[in-house]
Amino acid sequence: MDIGENGAEFVVVANRLPVDLERLPDGTERWKHSPGGLVSALEPFLRSHSGAWVGWPGVADAEVAPFEDDGLLLHPVELSSKEVEDYYEGFSNGTLWPLYHDVVAQPAFHRHWWNTYVKVNQRFADATAKVAAQGATVWVQDYQLQLVPAMLREQRPDLKIGFFLHIPFPPVELFMQLPWRTEIIRGLLGADLVGFHRPGGAQNFLWLARRLVGLEPSRGTVGVRTRPGVVQVGDRTVRVGAFPISIDSAGLDAVARRKDTQARARQIREDLGNPKRILLGVDRLDYTKGIDVRIRALYELIADGRVDPEDVAMIQLATPSRERVDHYKTMRQDIEQSVGRINGEFGRVGKPVVHYLHQSVNREELVAFMSAADVMVVTPVRDGMNLVCKEYVACRYDLGGALVLSEFAGAAAELTSAFLVNPHDLDGVKNALQAALDIDPAEGRRRMRALRRQVLTHDVDRWARSFLEALGTQTSV
Ligand code: ADP
Ligand code: G6P
Repeated sequence: MDIGENGAEFVVVANRLPVDLERLPDGTERWKHSPGGLVSALEPFLRSHSGAWVGWPGVADAEVAPFEDDGLLLHPVELSSKEVEDYYEGFSNGTLWPLYHDVVAQPAFHRHWWNTYVKVNQRFADATAKVAAQGATVWVQDYQLQLVPAMLREQRPDLKIGFFLHIPFPPVELFMQLPWRTEIIRGLLGADLVGFHRPGGAQNFLWLARRLVGLEPSRGTVGVRTRPGVVQVGDRTVRVGAFPISIDSAGLDAVARRKDTQARARQIREDLGNPKRILLGVDRLDYTKGIDVRIRALYELIADGRVDPEDVAMIQLATPSRERVDHYKTMRQDIEQSVGRINGEFGRVGKPVVHYLHQSVNREELVAFMSAADVMVVTPVRDGMNLVCKEYVACRYDLGGALVLSEFAGAAAELTSAFLVNPHDLDGVKNALQAALDIDPAEGRRRMRALRRQVLTHDVDRWARSFLEALGTQTSV
């Protein structure tokens, strides 16, 4: 794949660029790594296969010319502050995000949000049409851009278009609530290949293509990476498949093995006062992640006398996220209150129970935290995949540590040797946390070995290759 003179042969289109423009109070600007799993997963792949990336630079009204970043051509798409409000915070994160995550928060349906979503999707499609070479492969990402495949095909029928949804695709009963449900399905059907994490998402989409658009999709069961469903749209065949995303497993394994990383992990333990057990949570501060669930479970374990607060320390790293959206504001208050409560009741000077950092840390630091943690706690009430749990496994080359993982994360289907929990069942979460804290080392190693076998052999490269091969694209550099 190459950046040809007449446009790029391979183009990723995502709401965000892999780097985010940051405006500091003194008026200076700098670029930083963008938050979230989509960028964590796609960036290493893209950087090793030259191409172009079309996306928003992360702040409103930023007029930025295309630029090259380490071999990757970045094409910024500008959004006004009103568009950020209505398209990004509104329709994407106030309507689609809660609707697709099982309505764990109430989605809002506003016609002016939808109108802006259509307008902005058209802008992304127009920008991509200008960047892509004749016959190029364009890979559109995620729920913010579901209309782009059809809009792009309209202008550029020569392109090979793939679409991948990074979040869960909801049960049809929930999807049917959406006033613009048919438009979304038609938008996605503009792609040659529509990919989901799980076969269930693909199956739901095929059902909706029949019900809402009157098409005749294949009836067979969709497999993981194999046996995609097919649906004929006029003279085009659209494939619909399941491609569970993953991480740069070998890269993280290598960082974890470094001496400086291990020294930093020891330093973290020491800074915490060398507790017997360290628990770790790493998430965007999002209401789907179940951060409240794990703090509550630990609170009750201590209150019940099953865990001694002198023995444990929990670190919760929470990246700031979508801070102007109402559900996020409320959830932040709730979580910070519960951190105050557990520390107020069970901490002492110099030894809080929960160390809560509303911050993002760099990759090396993240690996050091994961290397230091005895128990990684991942308890989303719904998550498309969840990369954090895979990252933890990739870091544990020493076969140490235990993973507590929600059944409602897509990753649970692959990481069956974790302590799987239903995050709605607080007693179950408490029992799993306690079992993970008390695990016999030999049993811990057995579980971690099985988890690593899965994560190291199913990395992000394999994910991207299987998707692009199904799309019929050569993936060699
Ligand atoms: P989502 O995409 O919903 O945010 P994922 O678990 O799939 O959830 O991906 C989150 C990504 O963001 C992971 O790569 C994780 O390591 C990273 N991340 C989350 N919180 C932090 C943090 N506080 N500091 C650094 N990286 C973080
Ligand atoms: C999830 C979504 C991504 C999104 C990321 C960060 O991973 O699937 O599309 O980019 O969260 O969220 P943000 O709203 O900050 O882009």
